[in-house]
Amino acid sequence: MESTTNNAITIEKAQNSKIAEVDFDNLAFGSVFSDHMLVCDYRNGAWETPKIIPYGPISLMPSAKIFHYGQSIFEGMKAYKDNKDDIFLFRPADNHKRFNISASRMAMPEVPVEHFIEGLKALLTLDKAWIPQTEGSAMYIRPFMFASGEGFHASPADAYKFMVCLAPSGPYFAGKVKVLIEEKYSRSANGGVGYAKTGGNYAGQFHPTQLAKEKGYHQVIWTDDHNHENIEEAGAMNIFVRIGDTLITGPTSDRILNGITRKSVLEIAAAEGIKTEVRTLTVTELVAAAKAGTLKEMFGTGTAAVISPISTFGYRATDYQLPDLENSYADRFKKSITDIQYNRSEDTFGWRVKL
Ligand code: PLP
Ligand code: COI
Repeated sequence: MESTTNNAITIEKAQNSKIAEVDFDNLAFGSVFSDHMLVCDYRNGAWETPKIIPYGPISLMPSAKIFHYGQSIFEGMKAYKDNKDDIFLFRPADNHKRFNISASRMAMPEVPVEHFIEGLKALLTLDKAWIPQTEGSAMYIRPFMFASGEGFHASPADAYKFMVCLAPSGPYFAGKVKVLIEEKYSRSANGGVGYAKTGGNYAGQFHPTQLAKEKGYHQVIWTDDHNHENIEEAGAMNIFVRIGDTLITGPTSDRILNGITRKSVLEIAAAEGIKTEVRTLTVTELVAAAKAGTLKEMFGTGTAAVISPISTFGYRATDYQLPDLENSYADRFKKSITDIQYNRSEDTFGWRVKL
């Protein structure tokens, strides 16, 4: 196998590429993986040299703490290819910062910028041909870290693996999203880990989301754990509600993920003169607006979900339909943000980073 060193990253190339097996015109979300992955071990209190190796199985001891205590975190990012084959990242420094915020909450070591940003750039450069160009597709980048150190003692591990995998991906949702306002289960609580991108936050949502799916919904809208009255966020998205011409989203807190798409939408709205309110929105207010006809739109925001319009919300056995608007805020934000991401418009915010 060919092996080289690039800026302190060791690269071992795959002997055969799997790229010819991929149907780039019909990509699902996150289900095919490129030829290579990045792996970096943390041992004896220090990060070792990152390696890029062929994508494939990894070996772990059964007593590795990830299996027992769930010490794991991840990020979600995308690389976008424009029509000249140039590649762009969107606000990658923010993902790196949030990764280390998650690491700190889960008592894990921080990952330095030269491993996180330079590592994923080297991986993208090597697997550049895998970055899709079809409309609505992008290369989903999944940096993650887990406890590889052994032991049944319920305490932080002494060894970790930081890895990055790449998945050429299509849209996360096939169409408009039908959501159910959850009143029994909670995603997070004050003082908990809701703001961290840690695996258990997602595993804990699977059962309530399955129950919602059995009733015909795609996603749950989480409410506060105390009274189930404040709208918080969805499984993989922050939530925006348009009442009249005002766009409302809840404030971030230690219960809610500080979404990069969410803050970008708020910045675009300010630049486009759309009135926004970052404040607590109650279910009572949402239902009253739906009944009064002032509820115009709801949409979710996220790296995977981009801007996903909501068609219906369910609350206490009643479904409330949202109108089908021409020139909706959701459409406008989706265009503005994807035009920046895919290098189709000037980036006045300075968010785009060329590979
Ligand atoms: N909320 C949760 C729970 C998420 O998993 C995500 C996805 O990353 C988001 C919100 C949206 O965050 P971002 O826009 O940074 O992708
Ligand atoms: C993302 O949008 O990148 C996420 O992390 C969502 C993921 C749970 C699919």
